[in-house]
Amino acid sequence: MHFLRCRSSLRSCQMGPVIMSRWLTTLLTFFLLQNVLAIEVNPEDETSLKNAAKTVATTMIDYYNARDSKAIPGKFDETWWEGGSMFMTLIQYWYLTGDSQFNDAIQEGMYWQKGDDNDFFPSNYSQYLGNDDQVFWGLAAITAGELNFPERDGEPSWISLAEGVFNGQIPRWDMTACGGGLRWQIWPYQDGYNLKNAISNGGLFQLSARLALYTKNATYAEWAEKIWDWSHSTPLLRKTWVIADTTTNAANCKDHGDHQWTYNYATYIMGAGYMHNYVRLPCPQASIVKTNRHYRPMVLKANGSKACQDCSRHLNSFFPKSGDHQIISDITCEPIDMCDRNQKTFKTYFTSWIGFMSLIVPTNVTAEVMGKFKASAVAAGQQCSGGSDGKHCGIRWTKKSEWDGTMGLEQQMSVLGVLNAVMVPFTADGPFNADNGGKSKSDPHGGHNPEGTIGPAPITSGDRVGAGILTAVFVLVWVGAISWMLVGGK
Ligand SMILES: *[C@@H]1O[C@H](CO)[C@@H](O)[C@H](O)[C@H]1NC(C)=O
Ligand SMILES: *[C@@H]1O[C@H](CO)[C@@H](O)[C@H](O)[C@H]1NC(C)=O
Ligand SMILES: *[C@@H]1O[C@H](CO)[C@@H](O)[C@H](O)[C@H]1NC(C)=O
Ligand SMILES: *[C@@H]1O[C@H](CO)[C@@H](O)[C@H](O)[C@H]1NC(C)=O
Repeated sequence: MHFLRCRSSLRSCQMGPVIMSRWLTTLLTFFLLQNVLAIEVNPEDETSLKNAAKTVATTMIDYYNARDSKAIPGKFDETWWEGGSMFMTLIQYWYLTGDSQFNDAIQEGMYWQKGDDNDFFPSNYSQYLGNDDQVFWGLAAITAGELNFPERDGEPSWISLAEGVFNGQIPRWDMTACGGGLRWQIWPYQDGYNLKNAISNGGLFQLSARLALYTKNATYAEWAEKIWDWSHSTPLLRKTWVIADTTTNAANCKDHGDHQWTYNYATYIMGAGYMHNYVRLPCPQASIVKTNRHYRPMVLKANGSKACQDCSRHLNSFFPKSGDHQIISDITCEPIDMCDRNQKTFKTYFTSWIGFMSLIVPTNVTAEVMGKFKASAVAAGQQCSGGSDGKHCGIRWTKKSEWDGTMGLEQQMSVLGVLNAVMVPFTADGPFNADNGGKSKSDPHGGHNPEGTIGPAPITSGDRVGAGILTAVFVLVWVGAISWMLVGGK
């Protein structure tokens, strides 16, 4: 079935053959395999979920093993960042199912791609990588650390690799325009160098917040706050909680590219959840009292204002009418069948990050979203009726059993993400940190750090507590706003 695969990016993918192969696939499927279509998912039954996840993951690894660049562990054809996100998803899968059959491949790929400086910036590719590409590998590493994924002797710890990414990115904080922010691309010769985007900044925000909770090193929390505050001063994280995808240095970050993507929301929500948990530790009384006072007026104001009717529409719109407002969809590209391979993976992160966040900040809000993920998981399984085995997944879960005619590693990853999310509640504990059983060792000097020092000027403990409270306020306002957007604003 090699001719059916289109593993390169859309840009280099000829439309003629694609249409032809879709047609052929449909025909073959129809004649050969009328009875074994789709993957059944019972979201209330852990065994059913595990079986479905195993089927989906196995097909995903088949794609991985069949890639042209298979001599290089962790390197995908014509993309590098997806390696990090696939390993992240597989680490979650191992943790939730106990199935360790992919662990060697995960370790091999992660260590191979860690780069000479242990910061996931390997010299083979570093000349064309963006900050977002790198941060996904950092997020994979911290996921491995938080879930006690096995380490190999003689290799750097997972947490130190995540710290390596942090140490590599912080010096790129750009003060030439907009009062800060990470650029999308790292090198001036690349398109996107003049852009600041949500996933690069939201990605580093999330990584910093997770490092803060894992290590309790306040430097990470200070940076998380700083990135949050900066984002909030631009259209990347508007006062109405609508997240723009991009903004430009040329316009001093007043302009905005407003394509709506699930993963931009998820990365800020995930980091906010970790910060919420982090700031409560040293001073629970103060933060709770303060937050309550601010939480209610903000939510009420949000509910009453026109601005928030817009934002409710924005977040609810990821659960469109075509899926009875229960099935998640990347609405910017799915309805028009224009998702590129990157975009096909975004739901992976929205679902699995919020799934794990439900362990960190269990609220009725996360419970509500998790309910929608159950419906999404069932629909995703129904969408897995393509290919010669009738088990390859499409991307448009809102179409349910009507297979959308696409298949690929990214589609498999997306379905695995939502299955992971729905399996999370069957897990008693985790994610771990250094205080509650996390075994991976921190090394704040992990990675390459030519300047020798990083971080804002030392601050007093008074500032620190104040800043923590401020973050808690933001987080609860955020959770409140999301609650209303997801649930109240149908
Ligand atoms: C870099 O490229 C060389 C030559 O193709 C290859 O042997 C090596 O595995 C690559 N390293 C990484 C980290 O991909
Ligand atoms: C939000 O506003 C709607 C309509 O204005 C109202 O019916 C609803 O009760 C409000 N919800 C809350 C939580 O105040
Ligand atoms: C969550 O609980 C709060 C307080 O108990 C309530 O006001 C709010 O409406 C609930 N939200 C959801 C999504 O159920
Ligand atoms: C905290 O992290 C910063 C930045 O990486 C580092 O310079 C500092 O040594 C760390 N502090 C501790 C106590 O590990």
